[in-house]
Amino acid sequence: MSTTPTSIIGAATPRIDGPLKTTGAAEYAADFHFEHIAHAVPVGASIASGRIRALDTSAAEKMPGVLLVLHHGNIGPLFRTAPGDDNATNSEVRSAFEDEVIRHWGQHIAVVIAETLEQATAAAAVVHVEYELRPASLRASLDDFTGKRKTGSERGDFDGAFADAPIKIDATYITPIETHNPIELHASVAFWDGDHLTLYETSQGVVNHRVVMAQVLGLPVENVRVVTRFLGSGFGGKLFPWPHTAIAAVAARKLNRPVKLSVSRRMMFSSVGYRPRTEQHIRLGATKEGKLLALRQDYLNVTSQLDDFDEGCGEATPYLYSVANLEVTSGLVRRHVGAPMYMRGPGAVPGLFALEAAMNELADELKMDPLKLRLLNDAVKDEDKNLPFSSRHFSECFEVGAKKFGWERRSPGIGSMRRDSKVLGWGLAGASWVALRLPCTATVEFHSDGRVSVRCGTQDIGTGTYTIFAQVLHEKTGVPLDRIDVIIGDSALPDGPMSGGSMVTGSVLNAIAAGAANATKRMLALATGTSASPFHGVDAATLELTLGRIHKRDQVAAGGTPFADILQMAHLNGLSAEGKTQPSWEDPKAKGFSLHSYGAQFVEVEWEPEIARLRVSRVVTVIDAGRIINPKAAANQVAGAVVMGIGMGLLEETVYDQRTGQPINGSMADYLMATCADTPDIDVTFLNYPDPAMGEYGARGVGEIGLAGVAPAITAAVYHATGVRVRELPVRIEHLLQSKILEA
Ligand code: MOS
Repeated sequence: MSTTPTSIIGAATPRIDGPLKTTGAAEYAADFHFEHIAHAVPVGASIASGRIRALDTSAAEKMPGVLLVLHHGNIGPLFRTAPGDDNATNSEVRSAFEDEVIRHWGQHIAVVIAETLEQATAAAAVVHVEYELRPASLRASLDDFTGKRKTGSERGDFDGAFADAPIKIDATYITPIETHNPIELHASVAFWDGDHLTLYETSQGVVNHRVVMAQVLGLPVENVRVVTRFLGSGFGGKLFPWPHTAIAAVAARKLNRPVKLSVSRRMMFSSVGYRPRTEQHIRLGATKEGKLLALRQDYLNVTSQLDDFDEGCGEATPYLYSVANLEVTSGLVRRHVGAPMYMRGPGAVPGLFALEAAMNELADELKMDPLKLRLLNDAVKDEDKNLPFSSRHFSECFEVGAKKFGWERRSPGIGSMRRDSKVLGWGLAGASWVALRLPCTATVEFHSDGRVSVRCGTQDIGTGTYTIFAQVLHEKTGVPLDRIDVIIGDSALPDGPMSGGSMVTGSVLNAIAAGAANATKRMLALATGTSASPFHGVDAATLELTLGRIHKRDQVAAGGTPFADILQMAHLNGLSAEGKTQPSWEDPKAKGFSLHSYGAQFVEVEWEPEIARLRVSRVVTVIDAGRIINPKAAANQVAGAVVMGIGMGLLEETVYDQRTGQPINGSMADYLMATCADTPDIDVTFLNYPDPAMGEYGARGVGEIGLAGVAPAITAAVYHATGVRVRELPVRIEHLLQSKILEA
């Protein structure tokens, strides 16, 4: 039996790029290799703040194999991008090579290029630097904030409503600096052909990367091409270009040879971004029945010396619950650390840690089921923007999750639930993430060998983008997956979006569907207009293309003619058409709505007081992210995010040496992340309601939503098991040792 063409949308299709990855054939940035390639190794500053007094490269230059040593004195101009362009991690390029000022440990101050990686590494170690030290500001706590607060959202009268509220929560929540740790290291391979540059990169946005590198290097944008065939993830750290890519390009130009620069894991802790520390003061006022009266969030986040990076912790606060009186403010605190960068679920993830933890505390204060508190305060419209939601099933996430988790069996007393020789703790929290449809273009082509392809300048960060694009082409043309080519990861392709904000799925599928429809229309016109075609002279409106064949609408596909035959009859090698996605802010079906995904996280922890061992033992996640295109890939995204959430709750924190500003746990051995051994049973459910504002498929994307809400559900479960209220992540053994629950 043949597959019905529409069945593939929503089917658990295995990754079409799986065999390439599992056999090692997939080429990641650092895998690109050319004859006469040279290797670059950066030299990082060993102080957090000061000036370079003297930089002596003479010993390095005499080392075997060394070709060039670059530093701010000889690298030549690296241009800034224009003020207001938020498409580059500008400050890092500036602080690296524009002057002699050191603004953070690990800042690039020189780069050695040699014949081999080993020679470059050895020579980098003998670049001699004399510094003039200046006081560095490194302390973790942000209570030295003296700047001006920015008001994000405001409605009603918070002060009055909070003062009058019979029930109040007033607490401060802290999330630490966390470092993106994708398995694939950042890397650039720069290759010049005359005045044309090709960069083999690990980039979450090849189109933007190209534009920025053209600006920084002073080249016409047509002269730059950025290629990212595969990414070993990025988590946001690869959204924008960092200095190493400019260094590789300049070095390759000066040497007239290809240059490879692979950033080491240790360097990745200082020069390619991190999720900044946040301190969030939350105040909630409620009635005795639990109805929210007032909500205020005042947050601070750390930033670098040159950036004004706002983590955006107030992202979900203004619309998640119904509350008449609300205020959100923010402020920045500068430290001598590198530039912060978006990290999976930026803003909303740390923001929801604070908001949802406070909601759980409010439920405890009210002696109310935290689930009931959520349902009671659900919002029916976006009270911040005064817009209806396009599709919101937040309460249903909680209701479905509660059933799956067995929430009604919860006994609320601290330490009151046991299993075997362990104390159980149960907690829950809500999740939310923004949805948008970005403008983009995709080209769909029918080929005379029977294959169909789609081309778009986006990339697969590892989530399954290749596969879902192929699913759409299969649905639209009936051509089997093994005859479909998805061509992405190249800035020379039609403009596609960044793999960021969970927006590729919701954006590009519309362009592909439109491209397939346009190409099919041309194909049918060709079938009727080609004299050798069996459909010559037939009204194209009576034809359709299914299972890869053109046939009369009232006939089965098997009786039709393969499109490849028609192309051959017409002496055409291929026929293509473009499709475009209209951005959601221009579409009348979307622009009058508030677009978001929702979710609910249910967490069980096992606490063994005798040995102070705490483990997340079970997670139930229910996600409302519109229609799910590929439940297998999507469930992987959400389960992976839950694992990351366990790391956020219990393990992750980047710690800086207060004397030098060096991340002291800057390695895979010392920076704790959740591993397989920390991973519990994770049950992922999708509600699967298509969002009419997202276009043809109603998909919103799932890359980030699964991380939101995990950490506050963990701290709620920890409180339930141990009686210890942890408001500063990660939960540590030192916190747990305060538990009065001494045996199970
Ligand atoms: Mo994501 S932080 O938008 O890569």
